Amino acid sequence: MEFSGTLILAGLILALLWLWSMKNRRKYPLPPGPTGLPLIGNLLQVDKHVPFKSMLKLSEKYGPVMTLHLGWQRVVVLVGYDTVKEALVDQADDFVGRGPVALLLKVTKGYGLAISNGDRWRQLRRFTLTTLRDFGMGRKGMEEWIQEESQHLVTHIAAPFDPRFLLSCTVSNVICCLVFGQRFSYDDERFLSLLKIISEILKFGSSPLGGMYNVFPWLMERLPGHQHTVFSQAEEVKKFIMTKIQEHMETINPSVPRDYIDCFLTRLSQEKDTPTSEFHYDNLVSTVLNLFLAGTETTSTTIRYALSVLIKYPNIQGTVTSKTPPRHHTSSSMLHSGNQACGIHPFTFSASHKDTAVGTKDLKFGLIRPKHRFPLV
Ligand code: HEM
Repeated sequence: MEFSGTLILAGLILALLWLWSMKNRRKYPLPPGPTGLPLIGNLLQVDKHVPFKSMLKLSEKYGPVMTLHLGWQRVVVLVGYDTVKEALVDQADDFVGRGPVALLLKVTKGYGLAISNGDRWRQLRRFTLTTLRDFGMGRKGMEEWIQEESQHLVTHIAAPFDPRFLLSCTVSNVICCLVFGQRFSYDDERFLSLLKIISEILKFGSSPLGGMYNVFPWLMERLPGHQHTVFSQAEEVKKFIMTKIQEHMETINPSVPRDYIDCFLTRLSQEKDTPTSEFHYDNLVSTVLNLFLAGTETTSTTIRYALSVLIKYPNIQGTVTSKTPPRHHTSSSMLHSGNQACGIHPFTFSASHKDTAVGTKDLKFGLIRPKHRFPLV
């Protein structure tokens, strides 16, 4: 009797939730999409290992602009080059927002460039772009650093070798020079363990368990599992960053900035009495974490995939390694094509901050609570 009572109650709650979601659907009309189940939405229709493949398949039926329910979260999916370009490039100002990613929010507590929106994002982004450029990013200066670091890579290459870790060391060292003003030896235990953690965090982020955390953070916080290990590892990376910041505070000479941290600390001190300033300690720690994480895995994975393309198509190897002037162009376009062809970054989480139209579909984001108004691309 007790059991059947619980079942009836659960059934009633589910029916109410379904009715509530139907009401919302009529109130905030969004692009078409498959009907979802209460609580879990369309999760059963999305392959947890390769979600973008399911989305491509679903878009054959619902078109390039469609709505999916990932658990409670309603998301608009933009599929294909033309649609993504129309939204994120042609209407860049409307789609400038960043959607809430529970995993990142947990690690950064909402601070830092990569997860923020509005004025915080604007201040940190402008400062970061200018500072990185001043240190040579995207310019000749950076090319020289990269060439110098690649010499260290070459001395560690012994045939046969596993490119995964080695490439991460090389790429990360270039970012470490920019951010911490120093490179680390490829045998430095601390450095190697940080790189391992970064790789673990990103692996977790794209795993089914990481996906579950993003969809049901409240529940996953309360369940035992690997997510807790990943979060305590992320704390280790943050502790390392805090130690480096402390070292910088003790040795800084504002007239000779050595790296990104020095520049940020100088700005922090200049704006310490400005109440609207986003240049404070928490934003510094999280933005350095963003640069460290976002730069390392993305670039080393791109290079790894490009290497596998070279192995598969040996005929292009000659062009890339040729000593004639277009060499740089060929290598760089090969890296970009490798990135596109291998789908290294199939998703990005953006948010629109007002009613917007993409293709023939009106996206009424402005009517939805801010934390829900993001399309998943
Ligand atoms: C092949 C290499 C890379 C790929 C494929 C890549 C990809 C991406 C993508 C797709 C985004 C999200 C853009 C958006 O939603 O608007 C992003 C953001 C970001 N990336 Fe990268 N990235 C790469 C290299 C780097 C490097 C080397 C750094 C740093 C040194 C970096 C730092 C960042 C930061 C800080 C953000 C957040 C920017 C913002 O919110 O304004 N990335 N990246």
